[in-house]
Amino acid sequence: MDKAIDKFTVPAEELNKQKEYTELVSTVLKSRFTEGKPKAFVHTYGCQGNVADGEKLKGLLYSMGFEFCLSPEHADLVLYNTCAIREHAEDRVFGNVGALKPIKKKNPDMIIALCGCMTQQQTVADKLKESYPFVDIVFGTHVAHRLPEFVYRSLCLGKRVFETADSDGNIVEGLPIKRDGTFRAWVPVMYGCNNFCSYCIVPYVRGRERSRDFDTVVEEVRGLVADGYKEINLLGQNVNSYNKNLPEEKQFPALLRAINDIDGDFIIRFMTSHPRDCTHELIEAMAQCKKVAKHLHLPVQSGNDRVLKEMNRHYSREKYLSLIDYAYELMPELSITSDIIVGFPGETYEEFCDTLSLVERVKYTSLFTFIFSPRKGTKAYDMDDPVSRKEKGVWFKELTDLQEKIAGERTARMKGRSYRVLVEEKAKTEGFLSGRTQGNVIIEFEGDESLIGSFADVKVTNPRTWIVYGELV
Ligand code: SAH
Ligand code: SF4
Ligand code: F3S
Repeated sequence: MDKAIDKFTVPAEELNKQKEYTELVSTVLKSRFTEGKPKAFVHTYGCQGNVADGEKLKGLLYSMGFEFCLSPEHADLVLYNTCAIREHAEDRVFGNVGALKPIKKKNPDMIIALCGCMTQQQTVADKLKESYPFVDIVFGTHVAHRLPEFVYRSLCLGKRVFETADSDGNIVEGLPIKRDGTFRAWVPVMYGCNNFCSYCIVPYVRGRERSRDFDTVVEEVRGLVADGYKEINLLGQNVNSYNKNLPEEKQFPALLRAINDIDGDFIIRFMTSHPRDCTHELIEAMAQCKKVAKHLHLPVQSGNDRVLKEMNRHYSREKYLSLIDYAYELMPELSITSDIIVGFPGETYEEFCDTLSLVERVKYTSLFTFIFSPRKGTKAYDMDDPVSRKEKGVWFKELTDLQEKIAGERTARMKGRSYRVLVEEKAKTEGFLSGRTQGNVIIEFEGDESLIGSFADVKVTNPRTWIVYGELV
């Protein structure tokens, strides 16, 4: 195994120890729950990377003997896997944890556990310790694989558990995974982030960048395809720096090609690409690999060079636009999406207008837009921020209105054309299904539920801005 990976890999002895705890917990649970299995309610907040973690936590709980329920009311164990990206995300978690207090009053044996990015922050862990005495287990992102041990300490020893030490992070292979979906799978290829964008908490709560072994990832995908998965999502905060210290044949474009070579009818997606590390090789690999969705999520954050510099993004507006031009040149039908922050500290209205003009120029399919949220510990937290929240709200609306117009124009051009979609679920309208195009546009159409989880060809008949309607071909 490559040395860099070795440094992060959790040793087998550690994982074996956890297997022993799993057995211990399982035995205790069997003796305490003689009629039926104990129930766990697991909820994950935040990004798909966190969802992938959640599936492993569920895998561990399942191995301990839990089955899963859909609300905390009748749960024997509640686990919230949290996100810290914006203040709003944290407020929601605190609200939901508060709501567990009366439930626990009725069921004092219930174990309440919190983990994820939010609890990796010492301030949050301290607050939970002092002000939320009914919370039993709090652990950070770097020790998630030790969940069996934590449940053991709470369940069998009756101790409160707080394990949130900081670390550069690790790579844990071989954990059981209880996947939420049957046709869409999340496959992390790298963890952590070294970029330290000045507004962002992720590098502080997720540790340093580290990549999973190339062949291990390819084999995982091969197994998923054999199991019938139709959409493989390769995940990382910055997938373009996957194996960046190794030779090219182990880097991300090569990984895309290797996965594209796996036999089977499936589609490959990836996110997120950081514009700084987005290379022509990546765009070429996308264009050449048939199974790779022609969709690029390339978060720009701002269209103004001064703001980009303050954000520590390491690319200019011009470099970003030249990447976009190259991508459209190779893939004229490419769908591009982005993340944008409105109201970064010190951003002026004129600078914000550069973001508007960039959005107009790129013609995104859709945008994830956020008002800047100060995160304690980041550089931007201490920057002067003279523009009021209300004013930022006005700018925000201007941006979303513009994007709505662009999206409307884009979807209008879809009329009369056919698209291959992966059918995902029943739509709200009775008898309708909803599917997603390669470009990440949702189309709704009449069809039988049995189509869910398979590919279908759909012709667009009535594109509206928010919902595109079509019919099965
Ligand atoms: N690694 C990805 C981003 C992950 S976070 C990348 O670099 O593109 C997802 C998005 O949340 C970011 O792209 C950014 O737009 C937004 N975000 C992150 N921190 C934020 C903050 N403090 N306030 C507002 N939005 C933020
Ligand atoms: Fe955050 Fe920047 Fe890393 Fe993305 S690249 S996770 S925005 S620090
Ligand atoms: Fe949130 Fe952590 Fe993801 S902060 S966005 S869950 S990496």
